[in-house]
Amino acid sequence: MDPLMVVLCLLPLYPGLATAAPSCPQNVNIAGGSFTLSNGWAPGSILTYSCPLGYYPFPVASRLCNSNGQWQIPRATRSTKPVCKPVRCPAPVSFENGVYTPRLGSHPVGGNLTFECEDGFTLRGSPVRQCRPNGMWDGETAVCDNGASHCPDPGISVGAVRTGSRFGPGDKVRYRCSSNLVLTGSMERECQDNGVWSGTEPICRQPYSYDFPEDVTPALGTSFSHLLGATNPTQTKKTENVGRKIQIQRSGHLNLYLLLDASQSVSEEDFGVFKRSASLLVDRIFSFEINISVAIITFASKPKIIMSVLKDKSRDVTEVVHSLENINYKDHENGTGTNIYEALNSVYIMMNNQMQNLGMNTMAWQEIRHAIILLTDGKSNMGGSPKPAVDNIKEILNIKEKRKDYLDIYAIGVGNVEVDWRELNELGSKKDGERHAFILKDTEALSQVFEHMLDVSQLTDTICGVGNMSANASAQERTPWHVTIKPKSHETCRGALISDQWVLTAAHCFSHSEDHSLWRVSVGDPNSQWGKEFRIEKAVISSEFNVSAKKHQGIPEFYGDDIALLKLDQKVKMSTHARPICLPCTVGANLALRRHPGSTCRDHVDKLYPGCLPRQSHVPQLDQCQRGGDRPVPLQRDQGG
Ligand SMILES: *[C@@H]1O[C@H](CO)[C@@H](O)[C@H](O)[C@H]1NC(C)=O
Ligand SMILES: *[C@@H]1O[C@H](CO)[C@@H](O)[C@H](O)[C@H]1NC(C)=O
Ligand SMILES: *[C@@H]1O[C@H](CO)[C@@H](O)[C@H](O)[C@H]1NC(C)=O
Ligand SMILES: *[C@@H]1O[C@H](CO)[C@@H](O)[C@H](O)[C@H]1NC(C)=O
Ligand SMILES: *[C@@H]1O[C@H](CO)[C@@H](O)[C@H](O)[C@H]1NC(C)=O
Ligand SMILES: *[C@@H]1O[C@H](CO)[C@@H](O)[C@H](O)[C@H]1NC(C)=O
Repeated sequence: MDPLMVVLCLLPLYPGLATAAPSCPQNVNIAGGSFTLSNGWAPGSILTYSCPLGYYPFPVASRLCNSNGQWQIPRATRSTKPVCKPVRCPAPVSFENGVYTPRLGSHPVGGNLTFECEDGFTLRGSPVRQCRPNGMWDGETAVCDNGASHCPDPGISVGAVRTGSRFGPGDKVRYRCSSNLVLTGSMERECQDNGVWSGTEPICRQPYSYDFPEDVTPALGTSFSHLLGATNPTQTKKTENVGRKIQIQRSGHLNLYLLLDASQSVSEEDFGVFKRSASLLVDRIFSFEINISVAIITFASKPKIIMSVLKDKSRDVTEVVHSLENINYKDHENGTGTNIYEALNSVYIMMNNQMQNLGMNTMAWQEIRHAIILLTDGKSNMGGSPKPAVDNIKEILNIKEKRKDYLDIYAIGVGNVEVDWRELNELGSKKDGERHAFILKDTEALSQVFEHMLDVSQLTDTICGVGNMSANASAQERTPWHVTIKPKSHETCRGALISDQWVLTAAHCFSHSEDHSLWRVSVGDPNSQWGKEFRIEKAVISSEFNVSAKKHQGIPEFYGDDIALLKLDQKVKMSTHARPICLPCTVGANLALRRHPGSTCRDHVDKLYPGCLPRQSHVPQLDQCQRGGDRPVPLQRDQGG
């Protein structure tokens, strides 16, 4: 080879020798917005445009500086000057049994759509919807339904077209999105025997749209609470969404696989946020006292296994958090692509190894539930479609209709730049009334979501037995069910909240008072903003209680049947300072004890009082449980009602 050629070939490797290393042109300004560069004007640097709220970068949101010193721009957009364009919300394409106004091709941010139904049809969903700055309508799809079908009319979300208009058991409907909108959710849904449509509602999105943290937190939190066996916090108002009621069985186990994107476009700072968000999640999940193993996998062109579920350490929260904190950002410096297929395939291999270890047909293997959380900032650009890896995972876990609760895949995109709705939607699980695919605008939004998603204080439902065990929590926060009962001013008795309107206390509190109307029950910490006093609407005092019943036997005071129930005049608003205690033989306690849904009262007695046998007469209260012992736990939430 010509010696001169050799020198020329080496030049790019030794930038110090070159007089001018290639650098990309600087005429990249965007009208109405700004940009950031990941590595100056040098090759490999990524330029990211940002626009004010309600605008999006056009024609592209980011560019890569190629090794030849040119920006990588799709040919078709090369002559278009970058500009921040106003976000628009899509217009309805089809709306049945009613009318909507106004009729525009697309709608500006802040604009409203109003829906009305024809006679004989009732409107479900939101009658008025407003266009939000992320290009999504607020509220829920409006549907005009006459209630005549087995499954409710599944509606047609804004921008979608539906085929199929029969809603009986086994009937299917299919959706597609108009023009350049992207469909997220299920393309096809089937009316199931239980009157619920399979899958999740299809939503048509602008490709540049993204989610706000306040939308993602409840959606992700709800799905996760289900996964962890807590009660359903946000969907109680929607009667059609009964929600999943799975619990981790006592012998069961959760494998959580965290897949963190460390490819080129993820800056070191953003990768730090990925790590911190994952740590937060891990910390919260371990506080649910379930058996859990956490796998950590970072990936770029290739995956790297930081922690495997096969290691004992993966069950230890301190070890897992420690491993997360010590991940080296530079691990993937030599292969900076985004290979989601390989990342998911490494999860598949890990599952396969565990199955070999435990035995395919053992309960130990079959009872494990698996949750995969993928955090990425871009679409895969190597390794091909990730879908075959998901299919392999479904196959090895034997995910069929009956076992679909054994796998959850959450696909979370960060930065509305490179992330592709189609790909995330294809990866994410699709379950009744839940969402598994999200795109957040930036890592700040991501950390907001993870900080709040499993915050028990956000659970609006009357989930029982949850206190704040933080070292700094007040006594009331630790035992939020504690109430005090006082005549007019000074405290006399204590009680426990057992639902949002009933208090359990002692009968002897009432023996010396005739007039309950003057009594007050103080809920929450009376010295804090959460404290509130309630009147007593009704007092149910045990008629068997008689303090002098055994005087003739030489027992001066006898406290058998010392029990009373008080109904408060109003419902208590649940908070960190007011929450009911769990009563055995209720659904709430069943969840708290992590028993399977068919558990009996007897199971609760065995769990809570392992030594309790019918002959042991010093615990007479349990006789009743023994009698009703083999009945299933009554399926009701409001224990006081
Ligand atoms: C849309 O409705 C909201 C409240 O319902 C109102 O504040 C807003 O001004 C309306 N927007 C337009 C463009 O009329
Ligand atoms: C957790 O796992 C251990 C051993 O693997 C088992 O003995 C225990 O019952 C499990 N506990 C729960 C709550 O699943
Ligand atoms: C990347 O490649 C360089 C040069 O071959 C090597 O020194 C470095 O250790 C590699 N980095 C990693 C994380 O493998
Ligand atoms: C408790 O409060 C102290 C002092 O304000 C603080 O240093 C500590 O980090 C807090 N601990 C927790 C667990 O919040
Ligand atoms: C628990 O209490 C501490 C101290 O008051 C507080 O900082 C923390 O936010 C509380 N956690 C929850 C989940 O309410
Ligand atoms: C309480 O028990 C004593 C002794 O058995 C009895 O004399 C008295 O009538 C009882 N009081 C009530 C209110 O039942």
